[in-house]
Amino acid sequence: MIKLKKIQIKPDIYWVGGIDWNLRNFHGYSTNRGTTYNAYLIIDKKITLVDTVKHYLFDEMLARIKEIIDPSKIDYIISNHVEMDHSGSILKILKYCPKATVITSTRGEKGLHLHYKKDLKFKIVKSGDTLNIGKRTLHFVHIPMVHWPDSMVTYVPSDKLLLPNDAFGQHIASEERFDDEIEWGILKEEAEKYYANIVMPYGDQVKKALDAVGGLDIDMIAPSHGIIWRSLIPKIIKEYKKWANYETEDKALIIYDTMWGSTEKIAFALAEGIEETGTPIVIKNLKNTDISDIITYVNSSKYILLGSPTINNTMLPSMGGFLTYLKGLRPRSRIGFVFGSYGWGGQAVIEIEKILKELHWEIPEKSVNINYIPNEEDLNNAKKIGKKLIEN
Ligand code: FEO
Repeated sequence: MIKLKKIQIKPDIYWVGGIDWNLRNFHGYSTNRGTTYNAYLIIDKKITLVDTVKHYLFDEMLARIKEIIDPSKIDYIISNHVEMDHSGSILKILKYCPKATVITSTRGEKGLHLHYKKDLKFKIVKSGDTLNIGKRTLHFVHIPMVHWPDSMVTYVPSDKLLLPNDAFGQHIASEERFDDEIEWGILKEEAEKYYANIVMPYGDQVKKALDAVGGLDIDMIAPSHGIIWRSLIPKIIKEYKKWANYETEDKALIIYDTMWGSTEKIAFALAEGIEETGTPIVIKNLKNTDISDIITYVNSSKYILLGSPTINNTMLPSMGGFLTYLKGLRPRSRIGFVFGSYGWGGQAVIEIEKILKELHWEIPEKSVNINYIPNEEDLNNAKKIGKKLIEN
């Protein structure tokens, strides 16, 4: 049975979000563990709801709020970020508390107007502004592009609580709410996948955001997706700093697709050479791995090898789709290598390499492009290149 009970995260501060157990695709991102949309209710002289949930989980949020207070008593609704997974129930909750004021940034107000085409009662807050709600004073810090231009965090100093919306989120649907209730391995995997697919292009802005909140006294980070950090804050901040700096590990990632097996043969020959250096390898065929999972490996891998045969004078569509996604996420400071096979033409490797150059990746080795089927010599050569790529 789904528990609709309230969960107190701090004295008089409650998690009142919704759990999306069955979500498996979040605008193209595979959410194998589902997700949550986290909303928080602060009980003070002025009752404040921080963010809401996706529209179809509104009843779940409302049920949780009703366990605590009559929703008509809500005075403020803070919209930290206008994307429909968080702002999608603002109009619905306003039906219960029509006098409530929506607190948001200038861009947030613009976004809510564009979404809802309604004049709501707004209070615009700038970065550094505060709002007294009784015993507590809330602080607002703008963190543009983490995730959208309007993104901001709400900080509750008296409770050492940071409500950073998308930052530090993970797509995990679970009954557990806190980081000490779930294995670190799962948390890290999902937090990294989330970072890689949602925030990766904005490393510089993430660094600024980390600086902006770095001096704050915090013992709890309650994001808008997944679990709440209270025991592993230094650990997740350390990871975020690494990711924001585009730091990688000495690992190789081979991403390929194949028509008749020639490109696959080259992929495995390259892997054999890499293996001889002791460098960890992950091999992913685009036919059976979702691109959002591959991007998680891109986030931490220094060496990225991409292979496709040529078809219709270009690369396979699976590689084309992946590279479109990769270009948008703009991972920096990688060492790239391109390989492929062809019957005639052979343009795939040229086009892939062009994209890697646009990303300013280092490409120390000339690509391998085999006509028809690689023979033993070709495969030995690929093996040598795999080894050389790492050793140089
Ligand atoms: Fe979870 Fe940018 O929305």
